[in-house]
Amino acid sequence: MEKIGFIGCGNMAASIIGGMVSGDFDPKIIYATDSDNAKLADISEKFGINTLNSNAELVSVCDIVVLAVKPQVMHDIIDALSPEIRNLKNKLYISIAAGIKQSTLKRWIGENATVIRTMPNTPSLIGKGVTGIYAEQNTASEKVEKTIQIMSAVGTDIIVKEERLLDTITAISGSGPAYYFMVMEVMIDSAIGLGLDKESATKAVIGTALGAAAMAQAQINETAPAALRKNVTSPNGTTEKAIASFQADGIGTVFDKAVNAAYSRSQELADDFDKVK
Ligand SMILES: NC(=O)c1ccc[n+]([C@@H]2O[C@H](COP(=O)([O-])OP(=O)(O)OC[C@H]3O[C@@H](n4cnc5c(N)ncnc54)[C@H](OP(=O)(O)O)[C@@H]3O)[C@@H](O)[C@H]2O)c1
Repeated sequence: MEKIGFIGCGNMAASIIGGMVSGDFDPKIIYATDSDNAKLADISEKFGINTLNSNAELVSVCDIVVLAVKPQVMHDIIDALSPEIRNLKNKLYISIAAGIKQSTLKRWIGENATVIRTMPNTPSLIGKGVTGIYAEQNTASEKVEKTIQIMSAVGTDIIVKEERLLDTITAISGSGPAYYFMVMEVMIDSAIGLGLDKESATKAVIGTALGAAAMAQAQINETAPAALRKNVTSPNGTTEKAIASFQADGIGTVFDKAVNAAYSRSQELADDFDKVK
């Protein structure tokens, strides 16, 4: 059984480990380190996984190393491992860090390493995430499969064939929860403006978002969201008036511009990390 180690045991790693052990993974094959010993002890007790005292020991012991620290400390953590240890043959490194390119990580770790880059999003913390996964074309399929298996512990995986598409994933599912939260915010404000109290407005908006998402999910293979929208839009009815108003105000352009701004920023951040030697 391959051993899987997590460097960094914060929010995201804890969610992935939780998903793994409640699925098919034996906690005995999972290892973790963290700079906070109390956090590590809690996670070990909760999930029955192994803990280690150093990142070097974790990399030596584990076949798969999940890099789950904040992007800002990633370089220093990799740099602190000796080149012999981090460049051991046949290791698979899976990064969940936002904004650090696969090629940048590979340069920091070493040429022997296989590095697969993933981009999860915040709903992964409750098992309802979307994770983009990018592996170089020559990556062994069993390593890609293993990564899919690990990341699907916290939701849905989307495999992309070019690394730049992880910037697209970042702009859609990475930043996307905030777009939906913002739509909820403004709809709650409108509901309050039309007389509902705050509690009722919030319940109505969140319940509607959940219901609409569940309908779209249930019919994902048969009906596109556009068809679902048309089905609930009766001629000359209330929905038609609202949709016409959104379209007249250029809702498509507004969203497209925002998503493109997030995409460009994702590329800029990745370029900044790439400058670190
Ligand atoms: N949370 C999200 O929604 C989300 C979404 C997409 C991607 N991500 C990515 O996931 C990664 C982790 O994010 P997170 O939210 O889980 O962060 P987090 O809660 O801060 O977890 C990172 C953990 O790493 C520990 N750490 C720091 N230095 C370490 C070292 N030298 N050795 C071992 N552990 C060390 C931190 O300990 P201290 O607290 O003591 O520093 C912390 O417990 C990030 O790269 C982020 O970009 C997160």
